[in-house]
Amino acid sequence: MTETPTTRAGEAVLTVRAEAPIGTISPRLYGHFAEHIGRCCYDGLWVGNMADPPAHQDGFRTDVVEALRALPVPLLRWPGGCYADHYHWHDGIGPTASRPRRLGMSCGFTVEDDNSLGTHEFLQLCALLGAEPYLAGNVGTGSPQELCDWLEYCNQTLDTDLTRARRANGAFAPFNVPLWGVGNENWGCGGNYDPTTYPHEYRRYATMLRHVDASAELVACGEEDAWNVELLAALGKHLPLVDHLSIHRYWFEGGAETAFTDDKYYRLLQQADETEQFVVSTAAIIADATGGRQKIGIALDEWGVWHPEARRLGRDGIPPRQPISFEQAGTMRDALAAGIALEGFHRQCNVLTMANLAQVVNILHAPVMTEPGGGPMWLTPTYHVLRLHAPHIGATALPVEIEAGDTVPGGFSTVSGTASTHGNGDMAITVINRHLTRGSQVTLRGIAGAGGVPRAQLLTADSPRAQNSIATPDAVAPVSLAVGGDAATGWRIELPPHAIATLQFAPR
Ligand code: AHR
Repeated sequence: MTETPTTRAGEAVLTVRAEAPIGTISPRLYGHFAEHIGRCCYDGLWVGNMADPPAHQDGFRTDVVEALRALPVPLLRWPGGCYADHYHWHDGIGPTASRPRRLGMSCGFTVEDDNSLGTHEFLQLCALLGAEPYLAGNVGTGSPQELCDWLEYCNQTLDTDLTRARRANGAFAPFNVPLWGVGNENWGCGGNYDPTTYPHEYRRYATMLRHVDASAELVACGEEDAWNVELLAALGKHLPLVDHLSIHRYWFEGGAETAFTDDKYYRLLQQADETEQFVVSTAAIIADATGGRQKIGIALDEWGVWHPEARRLGRDGIPPRQPISFEQAGTMRDALAAGIALEGFHRQCNVLTMANLAQVVNILHAPVMTEPGGGPMWLTPTYHVLRLHAPHIGATALPVEIEAGDTVPGGFSTVSGTASTHGNGDMAITVINRHLTRGSQVTLRGIAGAGGVPRAQLLTADSPRAQNSIATPDAVAPVSLAVGGDAATGWRIELPPHAIATLQFAPR
């Protein structure tokens, strides 16, 4: 008979079920998103067009590239977002001096776009980062021919005018871009289609794209459940044209970015937790539409916190910061929210085929921030949470059962966790204490198969409102965590309030 652990307030028991692996945590679940909006691409990543740029490699800030390489960034989506449905790829190839200067548009926000960061530059960034590229195509102001040309330019090996142009522009070998989005948010900024008209466009685009490169993975634009049901029904026998269904989830309900109330603290974490349910309901809709006969992956290709200060209309009486820049504070709370979402991504790794945090530098839930004009860089607490998850990338997800413990507002377990193994007697487990004010003594069981005393790192701060800045870049940074106990009786850690830790057990 299994003994049921008993706990007091502030205690929790988590058990890893290594005997029941869930599936592989694809590196694509740790994807990122770089849009030509505000200072993400220009200034944040790309300084190749600056008169007096900071140190760079091929036009990309060296410090930012190094920080992102360390994360790592296995997948990068570009050039939008809403920007994608205004973007004409042809503007961004050839000699930089002769590229047109355009109005870059996204989310009602305009940027001057000299097109100095175009296809070759972006794909060079992916090469520097070791990232798979994911290009979002233009449906709103584009054409199937234009998108087919971009695919041919990037991926074809045959000798054509477009592949000759690619070679003349410096890329002899094809780029083999694996992922292609057919528009972005076409229910809104991408053309205000409805779920019966967009499938007509999708069919036309996807049919033609398949002729150019049958191996390209195509991403259809989904939305909430109702749109997704109608979209997939309208695609009917043409569902094989869809490899992934894009959905987006921003958490809007956390109140002020730093001066949030206790209620709003928990509400944001709850929204992060509920992201998993959105993936689950989307998976059910796909299973229903396909009858289980075809795999369509879920591409959560934009996710994260969007605070009222960074929204055009504000929210909850909190006005947007002026001028609108889509930049926001990134606190310890936001980092915990990211960790909570990642737990769900691991649990849903058999249906969730990619996830892209929005966005990679300076914008919204960014892991990396830079001062304007090529100024210094700093890392947000979310950066450190992603780093704490690096051992899980590419590993096999393992269920973590909460055998005992209490709950926080919203009814969620105070302590939660995610675990994985690379299958050689190693194990990594990441544990979160969501409680705003109370620490937790956590016992971890089910790790008997792994090696001895683990290496453990903790991320927390005096306050969940804490953030890093240029003045205090390490105000929130990981520290070592003491681990007690043993494999037989359970490993024990003390988690402070609003904290996250990763324990890494070496192979036996
Ligand atoms: O990430 C900012 C914007 O949010 C993107 O451009 C759009 O796709 C979404 O609405």
